[in-house]
Amino acid sequence: MASNALERVVTDWVAKKIGYNTDAAGLLTSGGSLANLTALLTARKAQATEVWEEGHNEQLAVLVSEEAHYCIDRAARIMGMGSKGIIKVPVNERYQIRTDLLEEYLQKAKTEGLKVIAVIGCAGSTATGSYDDLNALADFCKKHHLWLHVDGAHGGAVVFSEKYRHLAKGIERADSVVIDFHKMLMTPALNTALIFKNGEDSYRTFAQKAQYLWDSQQTPEWYHSGKRAFECTKFMMSVKVYSILKTYGEEVFAENVNRLYDLGKAFAKMIRERPDFELAVEPEANIVNFRYKKVPESELNEYNSAIRQSLLESGKFYIVQTMLQGKRYLRTSIMNPLTTEQDLAALLDEIVQLATQG
Ligand SMILES: Cc1ncc(COP(=O)(O)O)c(C=O)c1O
Repeated sequence: MASNALERVVTDWVAKKIGYNTDAAGLLTSGGSLANLTALLTARKAQATEVWEEGHNEQLAVLVSEEAHYCIDRAARIMGMGSKGIIKVPVNERYQIRTDLLEEYLQKAKTEGLKVIAVIGCAGSTATGSYDDLNALADFCKKHHLWLHVDGAHGGAVVFSEKYRHLAKGIERADSVVIDFHKMLMTPALNTALIFKNGEDSYRTFAQKAQYLWDSQQTPEWYHSGKRAFECTKFMMSVKVYSILKTYGEEVFAENVNRLYDLGKAFAKMIRERPDFELAVEPEANIVNFRYKKVPESELNEYNSAIRQSLLESGKFYIVQTMLQGKRYLRTSIMNPLTTEQDLAALLDEIVQLATQG
């Protein structure tokens, strides 16, 4: 019971930070992937009410950026939408969903007999940390009566920062928002907030009888966490967030986000200043993609993959790689509060060193 009470305190506080009014409510759940699935189930309940009881009579679909995290694709497939039901909208040169194409994609879906139930915005995207234009998505959803879900698993944390919250402007217009505490908000994994603009929506997601736990399936009882979460038994996630809040105050979240995002910018500047390195895109967040360009273009993909492999084998740094428009980039997501500019300079030096050694 203590866990549920703390969860209420924590999620009400997150809802306020998002910019929602007191109608909002939410829950903590085991990770961004599960939270995104849960949000899409709620969207389905709101838009295609019969599916929960009767199964699918219509081919449902969602519109999402081609840069969205793979768990959105997976969630849509789990929900029986199939390949046709996950409509990936191309991105612009900053890797944000092309909002100018939404009308066209929606009309095309309708012509093909699909019923679009939701649009999912990225705040920010996994590969580059790009933030979609959430106000444009909200306008579009309002016009077409669609559910707007924002996957802020990574970058939704900017709602705690005065300096960077502008990146997610419009987030308060979303019907549901996901924010991972275990990414930039310093709790151990997994720990995710799923918040609904209209808290009552969350009680409809899994409406079913569980007589041994609760009496009525319809009434909103926030203390019965199983009514709204996929999990029956849950970890006591709330105590981790609550302890940080109580011990350090909410400023610690803003400080961490500011520090990591500032570091992303400093790292990008460092890369720009070194002629043999190339930045993929100016970072909005703490995710920086770059490549080392010491060989002809046609060899660069393999060359950078090999550099990464050597880097991992050296045991000094751990970074990942990603493909952007057919080009392989080294990808850093600066997450550790103890990482410094010196560490990032040392990373570039190490890459030069490993490449020189062949
Ligand atoms: C944008 C985004 N959404 C969802 C996820 C999945 O979150 P989790 O690992 O908490 O399931 C990630 C993970 O990196 C992500 O970057």
